[in-house]
Amino acid sequence: MSSPTSQVDKSGLDQQPAVKIALVGFGTVGTAVARLLYARPGQPSLKLTHICVRAAERKKVNWVADRVCWTEDIEEVLRSDVAVVVELIGGLHPAYDWVRQALEARKSVVTANKQLMARHGSELLELARRNRQKLAYGASVGGGIPILSGLAEGLAGDRLLKICGILNGTCNYIVTRIEAGAAFAEALREAQQAGFAEADPTDDIDGFDARAKLVILVRVGLKAEVLPEDVLCRSIRDLSSIDFEYAHELDCTIRQVSRAELRDGKLLVAVEPTLVSRRSPLAAVAGGENLILSHGEFGGQSVFSGLGAGGNPTAVAVVSDLLHIVRYPSSGLSPAEEPAVTPGEVSSDFETPQYLRLVVKDSPGILARLASILSKHHINIDAVLQSAGQDKAALPFVITLEPTKSSQVEAALAEIRKSSFLLEAPLRMPILR
Ligand SMILES: NC(=O)c1ccc[n+]([C@@H]2O[C@H](COP(=O)([O-])OP(=O)(O)OC[C@H]3O[C@@H](n4cnc5c(N)ncnc54)[C@H](OP(=O)(O)O)[C@@H]3O)[C@@H](O)[C@H]2O)c1
Repeated sequence: MSSPTSQVDKSGLDQQPAVKIALVGFGTVGTAVARLLYARPGQPSLKLTHICVRAAERKKVNWVADRVCWTEDIEEVLRSDVAVVVELIGGLHPAYDWVRQALEARKSVVTANKQLMARHGSELLELARRNRQKLAYGASVGGGIPILSGLAEGLAGDRLLKICGILNGTCNYIVTRIEAGAAFAEALREAQQAGFAEADPTDDIDGFDARAKLVILVRVGLKAEVLPEDVLCRSIRDLSSIDFEYAHELDCTIRQVSRAELRDGKLLVAVEPTLVSRRSPLAAVAGGENLILSHGEFGGQSVFSGLGAGGNPTAVAVVSDLLHIVRYPSSGLSPAEEPAVTPGEVSSDFETPQYLRLVVKDSPGILARLASILSKHHINIDAVLQSAGQDKAALPFVITLEPTKSSQVEAALAEIRKSSFLLEAPLRMPILR
């Protein structure tokens, strides 16, 4: 990090030298970070000197100090004496180039950008190490929940083996609305109207947003490096309220669950809709909240929960990263910056009980046919559930399976999908008890 300037922030309560910072991006999070910096004059060690954003002239606000330089030109920030660049534009481009350039210009970087840190994190952390700078990304997972510092520092004494969580508030809002009886399309529309979901909600509902966060959690918590595209990602689009009815009969509910487990050097990892026991903390996560469970070999389970998004919670995480950099400027690598290793194998082939929902045109012999295919694939049926009063012309019923590998079930489903009695593609979900 460039050395703190000897200049003193006159708005501060003490006379510590101020560390100059630049905000790059002035949207939901950038604005909230600036407001937080001004709202806490007890943090005189941080001095906002630059705001770099598109159409800077139009974005100017009167509550930012006059001395702050507004610019559209990242070069102006890179040439300046700011010590820390806070990247809050999101996306891969130009964020990737700008973060690289900032580190090469010997500036530390704080970012909330999960896509950037999932895809290029290890390379950027290495670049930061080579340039003796910090790259902090606590806001990239879980919004205001101190999950990355919790895993990296709070649980540093343990060997973490499993991480499991609800990492996308939009998805959680939608699944809880479907649970309350809304159809998927209606729940999505409500999420968009409530400002939870983007106009293009693909990243959230198809699991890509949660996958990026899971990749980062795996790096920091399990010390394993995995590429986003190597992580199985399954959408919540096919969920319907009948699935919740059957899940409740099994004393479960359904959530989009991201989970990773290290076993004998192999990494199991997936993001998918999952039945979770109603007694699990995952089942209690309401609306847009996030919750992460970690499991350590020695310390057992820890739970982290809170607001996983939103300007203010995310700004808290960004400012906490800034304060960490200011307080420990030359303490070497922080635990979240330590290199992770590539696991021997990456797979999504978890072995769990499974839920299969089939919609069929009812006729005699269907169950026998399904049982025969499952048995051919060495899969044991646990139970068959059929709610009373369903339309026999399009009958949704459920088969639960004893613990089985996902790959085994998928092989059986490939055969089941060819059956003429099926009216819709079967829906498979793992069951976590
Ligand atoms: N919002 C949340 O709740 C939340 C939570 C956790 C993490 N994050 C992460 O935080 C980051 C920022 O999110 P956000 O919600 O604040 O996004 P946002 O509201 O869309 O703000 C992005 C800001 O960056 C500016 N920008 C975008 N591309 C630019 C470019 N090429 N050059 C200059 N300025 C550019 C935008 O300007 P324009 O207005 O002109 O587009 C806007 O000021 C993202 O990485 C996001 O994933 C957000």
